Amino acid sequence: MKKITIAIDGHSSTGKSTVAKQIAAHLGYTYVDSGAMYRAVTLFAMQNNLISAADFKVNELIGSLHDLKIDFQFNPDLGFSEVYLNGTNVENQIRTLAVSSFVSQVAAIPEVRYQLVKQQRQIGEAKGVVMDGRDIGTVVFPNAEVKIFMTASAEVRAQRRFDELINRGDKVVFDEVLKNVKERDYIDSHRANSPLTKAEDAIVIDNSALTPEAQLNKILQIIQTAL
Ligand code: C5P
Repeated sequence: MKKITIAIDGHSSTGKSTVAKQIAAHLGYTYVDSGAMYRAVTLFAMQNNLISAADFKVNELIGSLHDLKIDFQFNPDLGFSEVYLNGTNVENQIRTLAVSSFVSQVAAIPEVRYQLVKQQRQIGEAKGVVMDGRDIGTVVFPNAEVKIFMTASAEVRAQRRFDELINRGDKVVFDEVLKNVKERDYIDSHRANSPLTKAEDAIVIDNSALTPEAQLNKILQIIQTAL
């Protein structure tokens, strides 16, 4: 069977990564969480005091991009790859609300995007890849055989994110999570470089009222027609 590229884009907390992992496991494909890469750069900036509520040292961050190595390593216990920053597994550290609150500013920097997009294209060169993000079907892989654009209401998405953060023991307030979801939507959709937008040939899935199973089946049917 031929190997294809599957691009899954959409708004924050639409469950893109959950469904992308399921599809990758089903097809035996490589799953790449491109958002994790932007989050890892953000974590690096926070760890090196380059970004805070008071200050954002953009030029210093750009200057230190060459000190930064991001890669993925497959975790056989989990069945998917986890993200590493300079050799350290940062999968948990990148999912905090603090990282979420700065990541869209970091992701709007053209030099950051240039470097990460280059790496994403290298990973996807061999095909057989499911990548989720904001610009995968528009910029990273405009020729992807399957493009899905996922969305849901901001409230539904914030509730999912809130539950996820509470379940991992983080102390968060629902309104702050909702504010973050809306802010990221705004910054991601309005940035000059590679804004979040639906590719013309992407299929929209609004999962506000879809069960995870129904959503997976719908996407697998779409993929089937491209194989
Ligand atoms: O997918 P996730 O919500 O983890 O992504 C975190 C942030 O990274 C997004 O809000 C967006 O600012 C940025 N991002 C991006 N382009 C991608 C993936 C993520 O700008 N392809």
